[in-house]
Amino acid sequence: MGKDVIVACDFASAEQTFAFLDKFTGKKPFVKIGMELFYAEGPAIVKEIKARGHKIFLDLKLHDIPNTVKKAMSVLRNLDVDITNLHAAGTKAMMEAALEGLTREDGTRPLLIAVTQLTSTDQESMERDLLIREPIDKVVMHYAQTARTAGLDGIVCSPLEAGKVHDSCGKDFLTVTPGVRFADGEVGDQKRVMTPAQAKKIGSDYIVVGRPITAAADPVAAYERCVAEFCD
Ligand code: C5P
Repeated sequence: MGKDVIVACDFASAEQTFAFLDKFTGKKPFVKIGMELFYAEGPAIVKEIKARGHKIFLDLKLHDIPNTVKKAMSVLRNLDVDITNLHAAGTKAMMEAALEGLTREDGTRPLLIAVTQLTSTDQESMERDLLIREPIDKVVMHYAQTARTAGLDGIVCSPLEAGKVHDSCGKDFLTVTPGVRFADGEVGDQKRVMTPAQAKKIGSDYIVVGRPITAAADPVAAYERCVAEFCD
């Protein structure tokens, strides 16, 4: 899979999601389905979006004991998504078990990527609540390397970290990066942002873009602008 723009479909219902996706009559965007939509509509929403011809990143961020995650992944593998994920904080053993569960009998599987530290976690909350006292950049890189060693395909990270992750984990280790905004757009609650063109320059493999597309007056034009800046 090459560079692509993944549209975060952060909607509360299938109805809203399809009203949005129906606007795309040309290229079918790569779609991210998160917890809100999945918990509202269940596996059927994944199957329906797949049947419409979209690639899917199922963003459920699993984190539990290895055996439970392995079994959950062996259910998710039947949904035939393209990318799914988990928390690297679940340990290397959990990530290895996840890969086993995700791998189908014929040896194929969706790509599996890890969340390192959430972008909502900062140095202060990491030290206070998690008792992790190393610098957060070092923690993110360590989690990325652990995910690499466990056999995962990449991580979710800030576009600002994508270059460093490639330097330390290799060019083929995928960086999937949210926190993308147009130069002339609203930042909202994202703190550390980059434009699609900057994310391309720094080497992100996939950008995850939500509100700059979903809340745009013309979502198709906003999507096409992202693709033009990031992919072309
Ligand atoms: O609307 P916006 O472009 O900010 O959406 C970004 C998407 O990426 C949301 O679905 C958000 O949950 C997700 N995300 C993020 N930061 C992370 C991990 C996921 O913004 N570290």
